[in-house]
Amino acid sequence: MSQFPTRRLRRLRRTPALREMLAQVRLSMQDVIAPLFVREGKGVRQEIAAMPGQFQFSVDTALKTVKAWADKGVAAVLLFGIPDTKDATGSQAWSPKAAVQRLAGAIKKALPEMIVITDLCLCEYTSHGHCGVLKARPGGSKDVDNDATLALLGRTAVSHARAGADIVAPSAMMDGQVAAIRDALDEAGFEDTAIMSYAVKFASSLYGPFRDAAESAPAFGDRRSYQMDYRTIDQAMMEADADADEGADILMVKPAGAYLDVIADVRGASDLPLAAYQVSGEYSMIKAAAAAGWIDERAAALETLTAIKRAGADLIITYFAEALTDWL
Ligand code: PBG
Ligand code: ZN
Repeated sequence: MSQFPTRRLRRLRRTPALREMLAQVRLSMQDVIAPLFVREGKGVRQEIAAMPGQFQFSVDTALKTVKAWADKGVAAVLLFGIPDTKDATGSQAWSPKAAVQRLAGAIKKALPEMIVITDLCLCEYTSHGHCGVLKARPGGSKDVDNDATLALLGRTAVSHARAGADIVAPSAMMDGQVAAIRDALDEAGFEDTAIMSYAVKFASSLYGPFRDAAESAPAFGDRRSYQMDYRTIDQAMMEADADADEGADILMVKPAGAYLDVIADVRGASDLPLAAYQVSGEYSMIKAAAAAGWIDERAAALETLTAIKRAGADLIITYFAEALTDWL
């Protein structure tokens, strides 16, 4: 036996062309969904301090932005709304005149091919910042009332569908929410509106910057009584199965980068299309390190996003969407 290796994996890494040919995972703009924050008002383009390069828009500036994104190759947007007034039930969530509804309609009118997805939750709309309505627990503390919230999510889904949303994306983590939303949509004649379910959503510190962006931090407590504990893995499959049974068209795992094992597990267990959300904290950590000169933003974004695809995600929601149009 020679003292030198016969298997030399380096042979196929020698040139950029060889590496490109051998690549087994590729990012494509077809798979990328761009989140966007829209609020009331006119001419708003307010940068989000905790998320450099991301903005709160009003409907007019958001529409211009989405048009520019479409020209660059963005195929899908995920809309988040920030109302001017909040109340205990989050009633602005299902107002036909709210920013998300107006923007969804305006995008579908101007850009019929753009896929409009709406985040479906109440936390941006409730005065207390929780993802549903509250009820008192025995003893006096408050918790989110699962079943009372279902009807409100259904109502909000119908208003998004009526406004023109192609897909609604429920993120409240209420048990039974996909079934309730499917029922409400069908009953209102929106049987063609799809549901992308935030099926496996962990209670995560990585949502911190988003709560600045969407002004949706809970006024008390946290979301751990409804979002998943990151130490539970078996529940991930139970959540995914439940949502598939209830009629979800697309499943989602969130966050993405710290949950690649979960993405791979769900990929292996379900044939539904699978999305993963590279959340605000994942974005802001890269942006901050890049701004300090400690990391190469483009390289870090491409590496982390490619890893999410490699783990098994078909679709990726990422704040790097616009940047990707230049990078890919
Ligand atoms: C609303 C919602 C949140 C995110 C998406 N939808 C916040 C939360 O659950 O606290 C987080 C997205 C991000 O961090 O980028 N329920
Ligand atoms: Zn919420």
